[in-house]
Amino acid sequence: PKHLLDFADWSPERLTALLDNADTMLQVLDRPVKKVPALQGMTVCTAFFENSTRTRTSFELAARRMSADVFTFAAGSSSASKGESLRDTVEVLTQYKVDAYIVRHHAAGAAHLVAKYSGKPVINAGDGRRAHPTQALLDAYTIRQEYGSLEGKKVAIIGDIRHSRVARSNAELLPKLGAEVVLCGPATLLPSDLGGLGGVTLTTDPREAVRGAHAVMALRLQQERMTGGYLSSLQEYADTYQVDEKLMQEAESGAIVLHPGPMNRDLEISGDTADGPRSRILKQVENGQAIRMSVLYHLLVGRE
Ligand code: CP
Repeated sequence: PKHLLDFADWSPERLTALLDNADTMLQVLDRPVKKVPALQGMTVCTAFFENSTRTRTSFELAARRMSADVFTFAAGSSSASKGESLRDTVEVLTQYKVDAYIVRHHAAGAAHLVAKYSGKPVINAGDGRRAHPTQALLDAYTIRQEYGSLEGKKVAIIGDIRHSRVARSNAELLPKLGAEVVLCGPATLLPSDLGGLGGVTLTTDPREAVRGAHAVMALRLQQERMTGGYLSSLQEYADTYQVDEKLMQEAESGAIVLHPGPMNRDLEISGDTADGPRSRILKQVENGQAIRMSVLYHLLVGRE
């Protein structure tokens, strides 16, 4: 595929190649000189219409580590604030000979639109609640790093599934790589359409979700996307669904804990668990840079 918008066009073999290539990128990042010439002469534009800490910084570093010129389109201070459309914005940026776009936007489908009007490779860095494919790739990579393979692994994802592009991308990716996904949350935050995907089941019972799981991912309660009525109280949510040491006793003995970030500590995840020996939350962040290097390489240079 020319773009990474979601995983629709991506075969398990291609996806495995992306993960394999991230091993090489981690080796590059371990060297004293963390730079390779792979993208020399190319220009990568990051266009974030929504805030980000991890995704934007790791993409910018990833592109620079491979010698690309990185150009940050500052959406907040751009003429988008004067009403310029996304299409017109992309048509302007395209005149500057950008070779690839990395796009985060509050609207589902925004990255597809950039792909259509730029004609250049586009990586979706999160579009509304629809997809966040590089997050799912770094999650898959982190689990694979632990177990050697995703085949036959159970991954429980607990939290605000309804508003989560991370849950949707993982529900699309992990079964392609052989894992079983259980999505869990209160009924109001658990959209039934996701249960129709192969390899994905839904439950409102966190103990059932975690039982026998190899990896447990807590998701942030996205209060900025909730317009009321989804939760009776945050305390009640935490009492039932918080990923903590007690809940983790139901999981496989060596099970790991993940969170894509940003975290609401002691709401969807206990501080003890986030900082404890099972936590791979900072490992996810470290792996994110390598995965993003791998994706840029795959789309801009070649597939080997
Ligand atoms: N997980 C994630 O996408 O984090 P940021 O919003 O900080 O990029």
